[in-house]
Amino acid sequence: MHPFDPGYAQEPYATLVSDYPGPEIYPATDFRVEWGPIFHRGRLDGTARVLVIGQDPASHEAVTRRILVGTAGRRFQGFLAKLGIDTSYVMVNTFVYSVFGQQGGNTHAKDEKIAAYRHRWLDGIVAHQPIEAVIALGGLADTAYRTWRETPSGAAFTGAYQHVIHPTFPDSAAGSGTDPAVAMNKLLTNWNSALEALHGTVTPDTSRPLVRYGSTLTPADLATIPSADLPPGLPAWMRSDEPWASRQGATPAEKRATIIVQIPPDQRPFS
Ligand code: URA
Repeated sequence: MHPFDPGYAQEPYATLVSDYPGPEIYPATDFRVEWGPIFHRGRLDGTARVLVIGQDPASHEAVTRRILVGTAGRRFQGFLAKLGIDTSYVMVNTFVYSVFGQQGGNTHAKDEKIAAYRHRWLDGIVAHQPIEAVIALGGLADTAYRTWRETPSGAAFTGAYQHVIHPTFPDSAAGSGTDPAVAMNKLLTNWNSALEALHGTVTPDTSRPLVRYGSTLTPADLATIPSADLPPGLPAWMRSDEPWASRQGATPAEKRATIIVQIPPDQRPFS
């Protein structure tokens, strides 16, 4: 059997995915609107106890049409597994479109129209699912959570909250000259604090003792994304631990228009 994500047939999600903001609200100068909005990953069936707020979809997400399936998603799946949360989560991003350019995200961090649509998702999720904790990945997601908390339904949320460093912080920090090992240690120290706060607070799917991160991320710290999180029929290698999608192009415009998808070498049954 190949469990799959049944999609958005039920309310309030059916209306939300029919009625999404376009370039009039998400300007094409700051967002890759041409790849379409990508809404969520995880449970919409009333069983999610943890709500994760990510930042914005990247190349893998543009292909699978579910969020947090690339490096960031696989790392954070491992975090959830350490809490004993294997299936009872739902994830949404701060932005439904991929941010384009260095400043795109910060410029729109407090955009009221973008927030209004995001609040409809957050309100719908907490109204229909027994959310015990919200976890924000990175600063923009933290701003999104705090902005929602200023609304009546956000203010009424009584669950736990943790703001953690974004899962791909070590990669972006390394890109701007920081020692990758130092950046990874910073991430994992921060994640250990969040695990300590949430372990025992959130009801696990599978109760397991807390295994903290060491100073570097090991394969045992990652968890595979369940097939139940993706649309039916997607091949298993799209959930593997190796990257398989990347933006490529000789010019910025060509790169923006192109995602190369390549099956990881060890996942090819024909070679
Ligand atoms: N992909 C997402 O969907 N969200 C993130 O925050 C990072 C990568």
